[in-house]
Amino acid sequence: MIRLFTDGLAWGISAGDHDAALAVVDGRDILFAAHAERYSRVKNDPHLNEDLIADALQFGSPSQVVLHERPLLKATRKWLSGQAFESPTRARKATSDLARMLRKLGVEAPIRLVGHHRSHAAAAYLLSDLPSAAIVVVDAIGEWTTTSVWHGEGDQIRLVWTQNYPHSVGLFYSAFTRRCGFRPNEEEFFLMALAAYGEPSLTDEIKADFVATDVAPRFELKMNVHRGVDWWRPDIDRTEDIAASVQRITEDYLVDLCRWARKKTSETRLALCGGVALNCKANSRIAEASGFDEVVVPANPGDAGSSLGAIAAFGSRRLAFRSPFLGHTIGGAPDVDAVVAALVEGEIVGLAHGRAEFGPRALGGRSLLCDPRKPDAQARVNAVKRRDRFRPFAPAVLQEHFHDLFDGPAPYTPYMQFVAHVRNPRAYPGVTHVDGTARVQTVAADQGVFRRVLEGFHQRTGCPALLNTSLNVKGEPLVNTREDCRRFEETHGVRVF
Ligand SMILES: [Fe+2]
Repeated sequence: MIRLFTDGLAWGISAGDHDAALAVVDGRDILFAAHAERYSRVKNDPHLNEDLIADALQFGSPSQVVLHERPLLKATRKWLSGQAFESPTRARKATSDLARMLRKLGVEAPIRLVGHHRSHAAAAYLLSDLPSAAIVVVDAIGEWTTTSVWHGEGDQIRLVWTQNYPHSVGLFYSAFTRRCGFRPNEEEFFLMALAAYGEPSLTDEIKADFVATDVAPRFELKMNVHRGVDWWRPDIDRTEDIAASVQRITEDYLVDLCRWARKKTSETRLALCGGVALNCKANSRIAEASGFDEVVVPANPGDAGSSLGAIAAFGSRRLAFRSPFLGHTIGGAPDVDAVVAALVEGEIVGLAHGRAEFGPRALGGRSLLCDPRKPDAQARVNAVKRRDRFRPFAPAVLQEHFHDLFDGPAPYTPYMQFVAHVRNPRAYPGVTHVDGTARVQTVAADQGVFRRVLEGFHQRTGCPALLNTSLNVKGEPLVNTREDCRRFEETHGVRVF
């Protein structure tokens, strides 16, 4: 059913469970989109806050607000499945609390609801420029749905297949994230990084214990793993082998699922979304092995990106996603020559200007940079960021040099959605993971200040790439404001331009 918006601004909201976000859209134009955590400074903050809403209100008051999921349906699942954290009554209250909070800040618009996976599907497809595509959505869980396949044609998306809770490859991955000592729903990418250090030697054993079937499109579990699998084989302490095995099971299933979606829709293009689409290793396997000519992953495939997806889904309209720089603005015009000079001298520098990135990764608006060729680059940046040593850093590269330095599954990767093999790992020790890959950001000619920094560094050194990581320390959100930048400089002794 096509539902048209009334004239005026639409707000999309993703909030309630983790990583809340708010987007402002006028017609097809995206005016603003930002994560709540960047304002509250609480990592993965599930709640909106007044500073974020005040930023959004600079673009005007909305005539409609669209929520990315159906809270009552979600609460019903929690209630019926014995999670009992939230009764349907409390869910209704959460929606009215949101309405009350918005009213208190002068926002009187009605709140509309869109299904969780429909919001994801729209974020993948209706924000792309694909004329038609198969759409695959995989996350831990929405209301009931955990995995879904859709068919996008023109401005419409049509549901093809769903799988419901408790069967979920995302929950399976999160359960083992916790089994390996990391925080579920947040540190899944730690498990992905750790997998490169191990052997998938436990694949058969884990499948035998947990997986009832992984014959696509189904992925059914022998038990509900929502509360973790910490009890599983306490005698095995080689967490890297557990990680490698879980990564292997997940990748194999996802490739089969995407192949199934290709046959079912007869499409040659795939749009991939949901929190599991943040797994850039799996995305690369899908791009290489599922038979699609083109695979696109949006800049923000997780629930926060659904703030935009909800608006697109509700109005069945395409949004013009031109740039991920949609958040809080600090303006500024960094002295590019000074930044380049510092990098050439081997300094670690911060680069913060303009609007903040909407998405989990720093793409040059709130970045920490250094020379990727230095053997001690990883250790020095880790010392600043206090990160775990097994986690790799990513390179940003001038787009036209991407294939000179890397062998990747996609023609370009502007949002770091895929990994690529580093052709000469010894030349770039700062950004090469233990398995010889890198999660590359390709930087096109129209990407302003960051592009000019890369060009300047290339001119001075012959190296078209930089180590690019987020301007934050472990456990904190990306810096957002000028004040955050000043605090980072003072605390960590790093110049921020
Ligand atoms: Fe989701």
